[in-house]
Amino acid sequence: MKIRLAAVALIPFAAIIVLRSTVHAQSPAKSVWDGIYTEEQATRGKSVYSQECASCHGSELTGGEMAPPLAGGEFMAGWDGLTVGDLFERIRISMPQNSPGSLSGQQNVDVLSFIFNSNKFPAGTAEMPKEAGILKQIKFEVKKP
Ligand code: HEC
Repeated sequence: MKIRLAAVALIPFAAIIVLRSTVHAQSPAKSVWDGIYTEEQATRGKSVYSQECASCHGSELTGGEMAPPLAGGEFMAGWDGLTVGDLFERIRISMPQNSPGSLSGQQNVDVLSFIFNSNKFPAGTAEMPKEAGILKQIKFEVKKP
């Protein structure tokens, strides 16, 4: 009798474990800490940034009168827990603010590489692809896992 009761009492815990592993399976496998862009790509992105973004966001990404910073604690906290795809889409759809959507997918992903480089996320050996679907699998997380 006691044993059966104990087994019944364990059911909710078993359910929680199953649920948690499902959630885990759906969460992005990669993160910004996995070297998701190359140094060369960030260098290309830097020139895009100087021409298209620096006038508002500042040459050091510290923000301007109206535009928010694109590097540092405040910026990082705002995107923590979202995905690289979310940030890519934000830039693709709404930036540069004076001419949204005017940059190519390649320019957007290069400028994003430069932003990641400026926020001290490590470079890797493969370039970041410009497919939003793939980038949605990469988690933006402030803390190194
Ligand atoms: C004409 C000025 C201007 C230019 C040029 C510009 N931005 Fe912005 N950007 C803004 C303003 C203002 C905001 C905040 C209001 C908004 O969201 O539109 C913003 C917001 C952003 C955000 C959201 C920041 C956050 O943490 O919420 C990102 C990312 C961004 N810009 C990236 C870029 C990139 C990359 C470029 C260059 C390709 C660029 N911007 C060019 C003015 C500009």
